Amino acid sequence: MNTTIDTQMGAASDCPAAAQGDDRDRIIQISNVSMRFRMANDRVRSIKEYFVKRLRREIEYREFEALHQVSFDVRRGEVVGLIGRNGAGKSTILKIISGILKPTEGSVLVRGNVAPMLELGSGFDMDMTGRENVYINGAILGYTEKFINEKYEEIVEFSEIGPFMDVPLRNYSSGMIARLAFSIATVVKPEILIVDEVLSVGDAEFQQKSFARMMELMSGGTTVLFVSHTLPQIRQMCSRVVWLHQGKVQMFGPAKEVCDAYETL
Ligand SMILES: Nc1ncnc2c1ncn2[C@@H]1O[C@H](COP(=O)(O)OP(=O)(O)O)[C@@H](O)[C@H]1O
Ligand SMILES: [Mg+2]
Repeated sequence: MNTTIDTQMGAASDCPAAAQGDDRDRIIQISNVSMRFRMANDRVRSIKEYFVKRLRREIEYREFEALHQVSFDVRRGEVVGLIGRNGAGKSTILKIISGILKPTEGSVLVRGNVAPMLELGSGFDMDMTGRENVYINGAILGYTEKFINEKYEEIVEFSEIGPFMDVPLRNYSSGMIARLAFSIATVVKPEILIVDEVLSVGDAEFQQKSFARMMELMSGGTTVLFVSHTLPQIRQMCSRVVWLHQGKVQMFGPAKEVCDAYETL
């Protein structure tokens, strides 16, 4: 899981400037990251046909570049927004930073523990109950069982879905899943909180509550990287913004400048 997260030593040797000390306050450094997905061109009708074709090397692949030479950095304690159309590559870069995907090229340096709230569903098992998912998701985030036992009530209380904890997740609404995901991810004070759109699916009341918790984490020094389509939210919360367009960084700079440019488009 952690293979994409370079150690400080490794990254310093990749990038001589990092050794100079100047980069100490960079908690995330993304340098020339490209991500290519390989997709089979042929449609196969069955698993058997797939393996037969694969053995005969008859399957042709097409590469799709979801990210091209993406570079940006995040300072410790900063709130950085990610904007861009659907398919721009926002979720892909967040998954790379979280260590879930390994980039095809480039270097990724993350100097802190990450609590990722990725696209809905990642990290959850829809056939298991809310309670079971708290434990699974907590384990993915690196919490021990003892720790989750201690925090369980707090997680449930914040999520406000207590009566549904023993119901399989497939019966939850997307808003309920978002509540649970956010409650689990923020029960600890992570150094880096990654929020991928999930907050936009909850109801207004929970969104406010989640924002209050995000603010609380931010004022406690947590670095936040988040995707939102609500520009006023981005303007209000972020110091800097990365605008991705078709897998490339279209613009990276102060929130106001980038949002203004994005809106005039
Ligand atoms: N696992 C994958 N395999 C193939 N293509 C993918 C995969 N994940 C994402 N993509 C493609 O990469 C592009 C960027 O996707 P994504 O990062 O989800 O964009 P965004 O979050 O900005 O909407 C899209 O065209 C998407 O279809
Ligand atoms: Mg996305």
